[in-house]
Amino acid sequence: MNHIRGWLVTAVSSALLAACSDYQQSTPQFEELPPPLTNVSRSLEAVLEQGTLAEACNEYAASPNDQHLKLKCGKYQFFYEGFDTLGVPVPIMRLLIEDFSEYVGPGFVGLGMYEDPYSEQRFPLGFGETQALSEDVNAVAYTCAACHFSQTDDGLYVVGLANHNLLYGDTLAYMTVAPAVATGVGIDSHPPESIARVSPAVEQALAEGRFNSIIDKLLSLRDIALDPVPFETEQLWMSWQPGVLDFFTFPFPEDGVHIPIRIPSLFDIPTRTETAQFNMRHALLTAAGGGGSLESFVRGFVLTSGGDLERWDAEARSPLVDYIYSLRAPQNRNPPDAAQAGRGRDLFERQGCLDCHDGKAYSGRELFSFAEIGTDDALRYFSDPELDGTFCCGIVPDADSELTQALKAPRLTGIWAHKRFLHNGSLSSLEELLCLNPRAAEDLRQGMSNRGHEYGCELSLADKQDLLAFLRSL
Ligand code: HEC
Ligand code: HEC
Repeated sequence: MNHIRGWLVTAVSSALLAACSDYQQSTPQFEELPPPLTNVSRSLEAVLEQGTLAEACNEYAASPNDQHLKLKCGKYQFFYEGFDTLGVPVPIMRLLIEDFSEYVGPGFVGLGMYEDPYSEQRFPLGFGETQALSEDVNAVAYTCAACHFSQTDDGLYVVGLANHNLLYGDTLAYMTVAPAVATGVGIDSHPPESIARVSPAVEQALAEGRFNSIIDKLLSLRDIALDPVPFETEQLWMSWQPGVLDFFTFPFPEDGVHIPIRIPSLFDIPTRTETAQFNMRHALLTAAGGGGSLESFVRGFVLTSGGDLERWDAEARSPLVDYIYSLRAPQNRNPPDAAQAGRGRDLFERQGCLDCHDGKAYSGRELFSFAEIGTDDALRYFSDPELDGTFCCGIVPDADSELTQALKAPRLTGIWAHKRFLHNGSLSSLEELLCLNPRAAEDLRQGMSNRGHEYGCELSLADKQDLLAFLRSL
């Protein structure tokens, strides 16, 4: 019931705020409370704090005891901080925005991203400045917002919501394959799947006479050594559903196993106090549940993305950590019928769902074996392709992270706004999960099975509808 608590806190603080502003009129010396940050809104400008995020970390540095400014700085980091991680050359960003305007375009809207209303270059939200590639070539890196910020179908922008519209594999293909298709240089080293995916955009660009514009941008990169993409990796990119990706593959450390994972939302992540309250061994972050805490996850993200941990030490990362801890699931604005959801709540308990989903925000307190749950088990190789109990790929874990070869039950709050289900994203609706709609034919490629977790599939139609109503009320 933490989302309710979250709403209460918001309601109470706005009531306080209203009270304070009344009070202030009569007693001008009363110090005004800062307005709470806007993390859910129909207005993108409101979510971006009307363009004031850019200054937030400087303001926090000047007033390091101000918790509000710390959160606002964390919000800046969430949207805009590259943490000196691996970057995309800015000319490639411009190529996608300007030359492939119809297929990708400003804000990468064609790839499931959102245009930053405060970016003069019309960049998407979800990229931030990072270390330059040379004196002349600047770069931008993915930020948290690329994957963990999205708009619901009914128009709400929600910070922390998994972006299940994101075409991550296509994005990488546009960045690396499209230039080869446009110029013909090195075309043989790309598989037909990725060439076919980007060709319509390239043909359109050439028909519009943009060849010179493309070549100019590519020439500006001639002194930069860009690693070639392995042929097989590109084929995997083309196999991912929207909102699904395997992070441990080129350009990031390669673990040699295909483990597609859908993007999770970042609401209601358990703090250390809460993991103790729920008697969990730690926060069980990531689908395999090996991430001990948000603090260690963020450290690991910076490290595996090639960032600079000396500059970005625990203190420098802490605004982002505090900000993410503050994120709550948005309330469903088309709530299911309350009586029906109430019956679903009872079923959730009586049918044994709650036995496994009994932690914070209905996550599990323990981990489960793939044999028990029956969902795709490629994940057991996560960060440990040899299954020898050691982290691969240059991952240097901190003390509270571990290899599990197991699976967690994810948090369920905000699930009404999700579009991909199960850890590998192999289902596209809760109806499929409860076998109300048949599941699509199984995809037998590694990591792609949609089998398993058939709890509730044997219930009557009416019971399933009650359960759905309950799940969509969370
Ligand atoms: C390119 C997309 C992408 C970007 C960028 C990204 N993430 Fe994620 N994030 C994912 C995916 C996919 C997972 C699932 C990984 C897994 O389960 O192993 C994930 C998992 C997480 C989790 C674990 C959540 C849970 O409930 O288990 C946290 C926390 C998280 N990300 C925070 C961040 C932060 C903080 C940033 C920015 C510094 C960030 N992510 C940037 C895609 C992304
Ligand atoms: C034996 C433990 C167990 C039981 C019983 C169980 N679950 Fe789960 N649940 C899990 C695990 C583990 C996952 C993650 C599966 C995966 O991602 O492959 C999960 C995933 C889910 C998801 C998908 C979450 C997402 O974001 O993809 C939903 C919804 C869910 N469970 C609801 C239920 C309901 C409803 C019931 C009862 C009818 C139930 N569960 C019974 C362990 C359980």
